[in-house]
Amino acid sequence: MADQEQHQQQQPQEKNGRGGVSERARRIQRQLQWRRARGADRAFALDVGGHQLEAIQITGGETSGLGTGAIVWDCAVVLSKYLEKNLKSFQPPPASIVELGSGNGLLGMVCALFFDQAKVVVTEQAPLLPLIHQNLEHNGTNNPRVADVEVVELNWGDRNEQLEADTISWIVVSDCVFNNAPYDLLVDSLVLLAKPETKILISIEHRNHKHEDLFWQAMKEKNFGVETVSREDLDEDFSADDIDVYFLSPPPLVPLAAVPITTLA
Ligand SMILES: C[S@@+](CC[C@H](N)C(=O)[O-])C[C@H]1O[C@@H](n2cnc3c(N)ncnc32)[C@H](O)[C@@H]1O
Repeated sequence: MADQEQHQQQQPQEKNGRGGVSERARRIQRQLQWRRARGADRAFALDVGGHQLEAIQITGGETSGLGTGAIVWDCAVVLSKYLEKNLKSFQPPPASIVELGSGNGLLGMVCALFFDQAKVVVTEQAPLLPLIHQNLEHNGTNNPRVADVEVVELNWGDRNEQLEADTISWIVVSDCVFNNAPYDLLVDSLVLLAKPETKILISIEHRNHKHEDLFWQAMKEKNFGVETVSREDLDEDFSADDIDVYFLSPPPLVPLAAVPITTLA
């Protein structure tokens, strides 16, 4: 299990190559190309696994009451491209996927395309639900799987009987650990929704270490395990030095036989 406490994977020392430009500088230049392209356009186009997706974005959401999720964030692109690169390695493929804090729905749409047998549910706060529906309709015409994605309102920490009753194979979370988001409520949702067999796939952009530390500390207290995805397993182009992807596992159920019952003595 990799050490997530370092948050950001250390890159090996990179010496300057010819022309004095280090490999690191070249990599950062490559990253900036797609990170800038994501920007403030009306729609963000992504080619994944031979499918063309276009996420309609609304800029200025943070001041108009929509919050941060009305545009596509880099973490969603990194996670989508990680799935694309490693698709064959996910065996058995997830039978059900729930996304938390889906924003505009891009990652949920990607999951629906890649895992065509899976039930996919994307969740968000109420103000962003119309944008998610718009994106599902917009992309569902060419990609029928996208039209099957279910949309559910979920504020982290709130109870949802249906979601809690399901055995969810994967919970996917992109860019939901940052200083303005209530990490403790996100942890509450993960605890409420994850069964011992659930895997949580989460991408984090390292902006505010203090806030991220609080999230990891809370997950540790809930006895979740964590494995950092190696940078080599991320897409070479669609990755970034300040973004990591992690698999989290809920604590296994403790068999009753393993619990010492002193009151029976
Ligand atoms: C930075 S955006 C990321 C959006 C999308 N996952 C992406 O990567 O493009 C953070 C998301 O978390 C959602 N969020 C923040 N607080 C939340 C809460 N208390 N309950 C549910 N969602 C929340 C926001 O609505 C927003 O969509």
